[in-house]
Amino acid sequence: MDPDGARSLLVSCRLLPVIVLNDADTAGWLGSTLVDNGLPIAEVTLRTPAALQAIERLAEVPGLLLAAGTVVSVEQVDQAAQAGASVIVSPGFDAEVVQRSLERGLLPIPGVATATEVQAALRAGVQLLKFFPAGSLGGPRTLQALAAPFPQVRFVPTGGIGADDLVAYLRLSCVTAVGGSFMVPSALLRAGDRQAIGERIRAAVAAASATAAEPS
Ligand code: 3PG
Repeated sequence: MDPDGARSLLVSCRLLPVIVLNDADTAGWLGSTLVDNGLPIAEVTLRTPAALQAIERLAEVPGLLLAAGTVVSVEQVDQAAQAGASVIVSPGFDAEVVQRSLERGLLPIPGVATATEVQAALRAGVQLLKFFPAGSLGGPRTLQALAAPFPQVRFVPTGGIGADDLVAYLRLSCVTAVGGSFMVPSALLRAGDRQAIGERIRAAVAAASATAAEPS
């Protein structure tokens, strides 16, 4: 999927499920569970040996937008692109990772925690940023204050967000999508509990479609 298509899907779903996969075989059923429950997006973190293979498997699922997460090097950008990812998510801002993602026609979403990092990302030509770790940094109030001087920037707050505070982030006009592992928790993945994962996905999708962003 090209960067514009990826951005549009993120805008319409308003959710980015973060997935830590220890077993690439899990990808076989996870992709269809996401799509069938109305959330055709997966961010697979490159923190496990199985991650790239899992992205390859998920890339076979029609209509599923794939992001690689925890991308911290140019080599990982190349590996993620090769595996089939369209979006490159990083915990922090790295100009080389951003540049390589743009060169390869991928959508970079680098992480920021400060206004200095937002300015660096803007200089690199990126206006969609991950606010990380959102919960520990002060949650929606901090994000709203950080976003105020940068009306052109949109955020994907991630880190420490759960089903209970999802709506507070979705109400912010600076938020494109909310990221987190709460939609597809590792424990349920390991247990192979498709039903419980499906319920969590449906609940998040329902919250996202019921919550309009409030004017800032
Ligand atoms: C990430 O990789 O983006 C975060 O570790 C996800 O954070 P969470 O598990 O607190 O949602």
